[in-house]
Amino acid sequence: MSEAFDVVVIGAGPGGYIAAIRAAQLGFKTACVDDWTTVDGKPAPGGTCTNVGCIPSKALLQSSENYEHAGHAFADHGIEVKGLSLNLKQMQARKEKVVRQNNEGILYLFKKNKVVFYSGVARFAGGSGTDGWTIEVSGTGKQSLTGKHVIVATGSSPRALPGAAFDNRLVLDNDGALSVAEVPKSLGVIGAGVIGLEMGSVWRRLGANVTVLEALPMFLGAADDQVAREAWKLFAKQGLAIELGVKIGAVSVKKNVTVDYTDAEGKAKSAVFDKLIVSIGRVPRTSGLDAASVGLAIDERGFITVDDQCRTNLPNVWAVGDVVRGPMLAHKAEEEGVAVAERIAGQHGHVDFNTIPWVIYTSPEIAWVGQTEKQLKDAGTPFRAGIFPFMANGRARALGDTSGFVKILADAKTDRVLGMHVIGPVASELIAEGVVAMEFGASSEDIARICHAHPSLSEATKEAALAVDKRSLNY
Ligand code: FAD
Ligand code: NAI
Repeated sequence: MSEAFDVVVIGAGPGGYIAAIRAAQLGFKTACVDDWTTVDGKPAPGGTCTNVGCIPSKALLQSSENYEHAGHAFADHGIEVKGLSLNLKQMQARKEKVVRQNNEGILYLFKKNKVVFYSGVARFAGGSGTDGWTIEVSGTGKQSLTGKHVIVATGSSPRALPGAAFDNRLVLDNDGALSVAEVPKSLGVIGAGVIGLEMGSVWRRLGANVTVLEALPMFLGAADDQVAREAWKLFAKQGLAIELGVKIGAVSVKKNVTVDYTDAEGKAKSAVFDKLIVSIGRVPRTSGLDAASVGLAIDERGFITVDDQCRTNLPNVWAVGDVVRGPMLAHKAEEEGVAVAERIAGQHGHVDFNTIPWVIYTSPEIAWVGQTEKQLKDAGTPFRAGIFPFMANGRARALGDTSGFVKILADAKTDRVLGMHVIGPVASELIAEGVVAMEFGASSEDIARICHAHPSLSEATKEAALAVDKRSLNY
């Protein structure tokens, strides 16, 4: 006997669990199925983000930054720390605790919103858009559900380097990179993307010699050039060794890991590491869904094919998050989840891809929204740029964190904000102002005329907006 639902969501990552909560808020009888469990078999909803992604990485980034500050930055504040030592076991235990609090939080939210949660693997087992889709759940036993609508939010998995399978002992994926039990003396990272830079920063701060090997000849190609140049300079100063334009050859795993590669000049090189993180992107996850059995279309790269409303080729089957096109970001998955639930309810859910912020949680943090200078130049859009360095911001000086700047790009004719780029302290928080400005079609003058608290880092945003019109007050 199947239990019938209006909406069945497959996957309880940020795309799935948020879609389920919104669907329930809109009055639908909603189920959410997820297969993630803790090592002792307890359900662990939250997906990659909560279990082995956003949350644990930010916990370790914070802990490792505290350690680095205690070792290097506190003395300048007149705080002398003697006998500083690292208790990595405790740091990892704290990270686990933070993760579990988030798992528990999602289970609580499901209860609160009357979302029925099933722990297990969900697969399509027939049905149609008219009679509802049958979803079979294999967990501790087998259960059958029907959903008038199905939202697939099955996420992504790490991409492996050919010839170097993940063993999470020496060759680490994101899960392994977050769970290292002893600080390696030498750590190799393949891929200078978001995971490579964040996890490379964690282990460098804790004492590893980190070398990042990147295939592309340019650094942080998606960021604004000026930001990428500043980040390159600051990361080099911190001791993060990054080689660009490499071609990875053989990777051999014995007591340690040897990586053969050719450098940007074509010279053959070899590097030996205690551990190697491979962070060369992620692939959509559809295994287990039995998508072919119902004819759910998947493109040549493995993504579920969707239109701009997240509709798949099957009636009343939707897909959101990492398993569909677009940036692999938790907040993009959430926005799509909400929009789909609202579309099912006949509302006009909307996701604006132009205002999705990007954040890299290194130190300093890097964040941006909208277009880069290069994109504007390539598109032939006339623009004006305003920049303000944190060096000239009182709060940044008081914090002792003056690296980086805020940059605002505005249309030369209309002054409408087209992009905001930040490298500096809490860029992840500051970028929200740029997102709001762009969503509301604000001009740089609008930001410049808004009263910002003093002293605050956000004054750098106001000053960058003033600088668009060449009238900064403090620089
Ligand atoms: P997921 O979070 O991957 O969730 C999918 C869920 O579905 C999983 O629990 C999976 O086990 C389950 N599932 C899959 N198939 C089935 C099935 N057949 N039946 C039942 N369940 C199934 N993004 C940010 O925005 N900010 C960050 O700071 C950030 N940091 C990151 C750090 C790391 C190390 C990594 C790896 C990623 C990070 N991301 C970050 C990306 C973010 O984690 C993803 O974009 C986000 O998790 C995608 O959400 P999702 O719901 O689409 O998929
Ligand atoms: P990524 O796409 O950010 O970076 C991968 C890097 O590896 C690229 O620079 C690419 O050129 C390089 N690369 C690819 N193949 C290579 C090869 N064979 N040899 C050397 N370099 C190679 O992917 P990453 O870091 O694995 O992260 C996956 C996704 O997870 C990100 O794209 C992002 O969407 C998400 N994420 C988001 C975070 C955030 O929002 N703060 C944090 C971590 C991950």
